[in-house]
Amino acid sequence: MKTLLRIDSSIRLTNSHTRELTNYFEEAWLRKNPDGNVIRRCLMKNPVPHLTQEVFDTFQNSDESLNADSLSDALVDEIKRADYLLIGSPLYNLGLPSSLKAYFDHIVRSGITFEIENDVYKGLLGEKRAILITARASYSSPENHDDFQKGYLEQILAFIGIKHIETVSVEGVEDTDSNLTQILAYAKEKIDLMFEPSNELSWLGEFTNKDRQEITQLRTAQAKAIISGDATAYASLCTEDIQLLIPAKDLVSGQDAFLKIERALFKNAKFDTFRKMPVCIQRSGDLAVEVGRLEVTMKNKGYSSGVFSSRQKYTHIFRRTNNGWRISLLMSNPSE
Ligand SMILES: Cc1cc2nc3c(=O)[nH]c(=O)nc-3n(C[C@H](O)[C@H](O)[C@H](O)COP(=O)(O)O)c2cc1C
Repeated sequence: MKTLLRIDSSIRLTNSHTRELTNYFEEAWLRKNPDGNVIRRCLMKNPVPHLTQEVFDTFQNSDESLNADSLSDALVDEIKRADYLLIGSPLYNLGLPSSLKAYFDHIVRSGITFEIENDVYKGLLGEKRAILITARASYSSPENHDDFQKGYLEQILAFIGIKHIETVSVEGVEDTDSNLTQILAYAKEKIDLMFEPSNELSWLGEFTNKDRQEITQLRTAQAKAIISGDATAYASLCTEDIQLLIPAKDLVSGQDAFLKIERALFKNAKFDTFRKMPVCIQRSGDLAVEVGRLEVTMKNKGYSSGVFSSRQKYTHIFRRTNNGWRISLLMSNPSE
């Protein structure tokens, strides 16, 4: 039986966007795991107190820290039992809610959730999947450095060994121009995608392990470039004669034209998810044709249709060059 530990930290008990999404995730998780066990920890209703010297001293003494009555031990036991960790964390004053910080101060413990071996820190809570649901009134921008929440959460979870982390963020929730219903619908779509079975990819033809590795890395690098809006990085994954084919749009041919079109695209469209689910890849000489499904969600409003439809079929062609495998044709059909 799988266990989900759900932690909510919004001070709002009603009309909270993070709670709406943690609820949505929990319901989807229970549909997938009907015998599953959900542990709910609401840090608003039951706040974890700030750490005190007295409590911290018990952490240093391994005998005392075994005291089964201590809150910290109970919290550690809870998170250790969980297979999935779901955290709802609104952005408060550029950081995470202090209630959530207090929670982490109670579970990050030397010898219990992390250890130091030959001067190297090692997290002890591996093999869990964490899902972070974050919300903020404004839009984030990498230039403003005004979000010390997501980075902290990812680092602290990795510190105790949880490295499989997925984030669902809603931004601009108090922007009068934004469409809140749509923002939340995108977030729910992203959660739905987490529960879809991934198809097994068929490799047809002769692919060495190196070929498979390079093509797999190409897909990851493509998603990374698109999510970070880096047109130069994207173009560098393509051949000089890259072709971009989108029905009812002009053919884009060659790296310069590709770079121009992607730069223009990333100016306005901010991608939240770009997930390729390849179904089949077939090799013929130095070419490999891949078909699959592509799922896309956007951070910003106004890009819900056309080339940005959330689900579409794609055909991509890779070519082996002197610099390894590169993308040489991108074709997708938003209406399929
Ligand atoms: C105390 C407080 C501080 C906030 N600070 C920020 C902030 O620094 N940046 C921001 O974009 N939004 C900020 N907000 C807005 C919240 O992040 C936003 O309302 C979010 O939806 C709250 O999550 P919830 O809907 O789950 O309660 C703040 C809200 C509160 C109550």
